[in-house]
Amino acid sequence: MPVTAYDLTGRTALVTGAAGGIGRATAALLAEAGATVHCADVDEQGVRATAAALTATGAAARAHRVDVTARDQVAAVVDTARRATGRLDILAAVAGIMHSSTVLETKEADLDRVWNTNFKGVLHSCQEAARAMIATGTGGSIVTMASGAVDTGAPGLLCYGASKAAVIQLTKTLATEVGRHGIRVNAVAPGWIRTPMTTRHTTDAQQQAERPMARMSPLGRVGEAEDVAHAVLHLASDAAAFTTGQILRPNGGVAMPW
Ligand code: NAI
Repeated sequence: MPVTAYDLTGRTALVTGAAGGIGRATAALLAEAGATVHCADVDEQGVRATAAALTATGAAARAHRVDVTARDQVAAVVDTARRATGRLDILAAVAGIMHSSTVLETKEADLDRVWNTNFKGVLHSCQEAARAMIATGTGGSIVTMASGAVDTGAPGLLCYGASKAAVIQLTKTLATEVGRHGIRVNAVAPGWIRTPMTTRHTTDAQQQAERPMARMSPLGRVGEAEDVAHAVLHLASDAAAFTTGQILRPNGGVAMPW
């Protein structure tokens, strides 16, 4: 028998970055758990494909072309999602980009691009979703996507790691501010996950790193998008009803912070 705390029937979720990788897997799992899922991504074709795949299984899903760096677009999709069912219960702020350069090679334009997407995009999403949840008055769960990069010195990942560290600070701060409205805010900090980001957007040298990364894990493998989606489902659901301001690490045990 399914565990009822994980049942999201009657809940409405917004997943950013839903066109592929972790976002798509998260949208699929939240839909499987019963939620109505609004899939948002700047990649219109990709996000339409995600929503179409979900509706083909009988799930309630809609696609939205959204650039999370544009606050008005984020506000519009949150509004649409809330109007459709009268509530917004879950935000999974997954959209993000990778950039690789050493500290000495980092250009201001790279820093701005990564910061705007990975931090400001999550900030816009959290602010708009939290406002909608407060207005509805039924509480909610916000899950942000950080990275295992915050747990180690990650060579070449200054912009990325700094933006993800900021996401964790945002997560903890927001958790302290909206808990009284019944809103929980938690971060997921995945290790190396096999997605388009790690196979397409990184350098050859980093792609070669997958095998050593697998060896660093006590489990002897890198992660799959579904490993992270299950962490998001846990935090989004009533199973995590007393969990807020925390970091959940689906990282295969590569880092074990206290
Ligand atoms: P991905 O590249 O497959 O997916 C990222 C999605 O975000 C894409 O669909 C992309 O179109 C979307 N996106 C990018 N900029 C956007 C914008 N401005 N507005 C709306 N959507 C935008 O990457 P992946 O691996 O699925 O990553 C998802 C999240 O997980 C990211 O935040 C990433 O930093 C994080 N993460 C990934 C890890 C990995 O090893 N793959 C490890 C740790 C964290």
